Amino acid sequence: MSRFWLAALAVAVTGGSAAAQSPTQRGDYLVNSILNCGGCHTPRGPGGAEKAFSGGNVFDTPRFKVVSSNITPDKQTGIGNWTNDQIKKAIMHGVRPNGVALAVMPSAFYAGLTTRDADAIVAYLRSLKPIRNEVPAPQYKEPAKHEALPAPGKMRGKVKQGYYLATIGHCMECHTPMEKGQPLLTTALGAGGREFKGPWGVSKARNLTSHKEKGLGSWTDAEIKRAITQGVRKDGTKLNPPMGFGAYAKMTDKDMTALVAYLRTLPPKE
Ligand code: HEC
Ligand code: HEC
Repeated sequence: MSRFWLAALAVAVTGGSAAAQSPTQRGDYLVNSILNCGGCHTPRGPGGAEKAFSGGNVFDTPRFKVVSSNITPDKQTGIGNWTNDQIKKAIMHGVRPNGVALAVMPSAFYAGLTTRDADAIVAYLRSLKPIRNEVPAPQYKEPAKHEALPAPGKMRGKVKQGYYLATIGHCMECHTPMEKGQPLLTTALGAGGREFKGPWGVSKARNLTSHKEKGLGSWTDAEIKRAITQGVRKDGTKLNPPMGFGAYAKMTDKDMTALVAYLRTLPPKE
């Protein structure tokens, strides 16, 4: 098979919008839409956008106190000296070059990234402007662990593409109830209930399953898309953070349609 056809096939499998997209463009699209890496790695608050991806957000829990890393190519304070493989290992396996496991990075979800997409993410990170921003060292009170995701059932076409996007978008990390710091992915996938505290008060991740009353079973596709991309509920009221509505709004319509098609297949849960 010629290189052209291999590339075309990869686009068909991963749903790329244009065959002409370079790895850096593909990485830009993924990182700034469905992956929303900046949601954790871009400093929150005013001036954050100018320091995009330079880290500094604090995650303080009983098990660890960590600060999101500077993932710009700055050599002293970012990942400028890391090899491509070291960067991919941190993203997809949650392990730093020194062997220490990352706690907050949703790596179990990134483990399923296709090689093409993982390489595209690295290419994009390398293309960023290096920003000097030293973040404090993490404190782990117990070793971090990442549970493997359950194997997906048989899926094809649009639903399979939507499953891929929902996975790498780690939707289910927030939308699945937790036990001992790990989401109950096999028994309560998408059932919601996790609480997020912030300046907005407390928001509770919603039930995304096809349950008619508790989930999205009675929502139209357009209502689901509006919730994801504009942060608006079925009844028209505004959803609170921390979901990355602005990033998700940058998804292509094809990817958004696939994502919704997958959500429709989630078995109803109370
Ligand atoms: C839920 C928040 C969150 C998301 C989403 C997230 N990260 Fe992270 N990431 C962190 C935190 C916090 C750390 C460092 C501490 C830890 O996790 O133990 C980290 C560490 C890293 C590291 C290791 C750098 C170092 O110096 O140790 C890399 C590389 C990285 N992230 C890249 C990414 C990329 C690329 C994405 C998007 C695909 C992403 N992260 C999404 C929170 C996040
Ligand atoms: C960082 C955590 C987080 C991530 C990641 C996340 N969500 Fe959410 N989501 C929430 C929270 C919290 C709410 C409820 C906010 C509120 O009620 O104010 C919500 C609400 C929603 C709603 C509205 C449902 C309703 O009943 O109002 C939909 C639909 C949704 N999320 C889908 C998704 C999809 C699809 C993804 C992945 C692309 C995703 N979410 C990723 C936290 C998250």
